[in-house]
Amino acid sequence: MSGLIDFSQPSLWVSAASIAFNPAFWNTAARQEYHNKVITKLFRGNRLYGCYALAVTIFTIGIIRDSIYERALRSQPTHPLLAGPTSTYIAYGLIAAGNVLVLSSMWALGVTGTYLGDYFGILMDHKVESFPFNVTDAPMYYGSTLSFLGYALWMGKPAGILLTLEVLLVYRIALSYEDPFTAEIYAKREREERQAGKKRS
Ligand SMILES: *[C@@H]1O[C@H](CO)[C@@H](O)[C@H](O)[C@H]1NC(C)=O
Repeated sequence: MSGLIDFSQPSLWVSAASIAFNPAFWNTAARQEYHNKVITKLFRGNRLYGCYALAVTIFTIGIIRDSIYERALRSQPTHPLLAGPTSTYIAYGLIAAGNVLVLSSMWALGVTGTYLGDYFGILMDHKVESFPFNVTDAPMYYGSTLSFLGYALWMGKPAGILLTLEVLLVYRIALSYEDPFTAEIYAKREREERQAGKKRS
């Protein structure tokens, strides 16, 4: 096992920390918004601007996380098994598939749908079930995970595979918080609409 991953490199730990930080940050921010309207208040009550600001922030810390990851991998040992052409082709496939999932999901959801708009009270009219949501419930998260794995193989770094497992783990934890929460937001709207319907009739 020794020699596969150089745990003495501080950049490895910085990367691990930024991978864990990102979903923790946006879940905390989104919940603060939902319960206390923290972000909307910063934008003088304009929830759309608030959501855009959160989108830009999440996007930016994503780019920072990705560049930290890349830098961390550069100071890690390369494994010959991961360095061959087969591995490179698989890497291209994974990165392509990951990007298709992420980009098509953003296209289907729009900015507010992608970046936690429902916590701001900006709800989608309908649950999106078209591609890529007919492939996976969380194309953003699984697409991002595939890209991480792809870069690990592309650079031939076992450390990248370990960090990808961490990405998967923190996304699974994030989903276990987000899924029930958004389900409840939409269930609440449905109850309110039913209530309003009763009053009208
Ligand atoms: C999902 O939808 C796309 C486009 O509508 C279609 O090509 C694809 O076969 C569907 N996939 C599954 C697993 O249903």
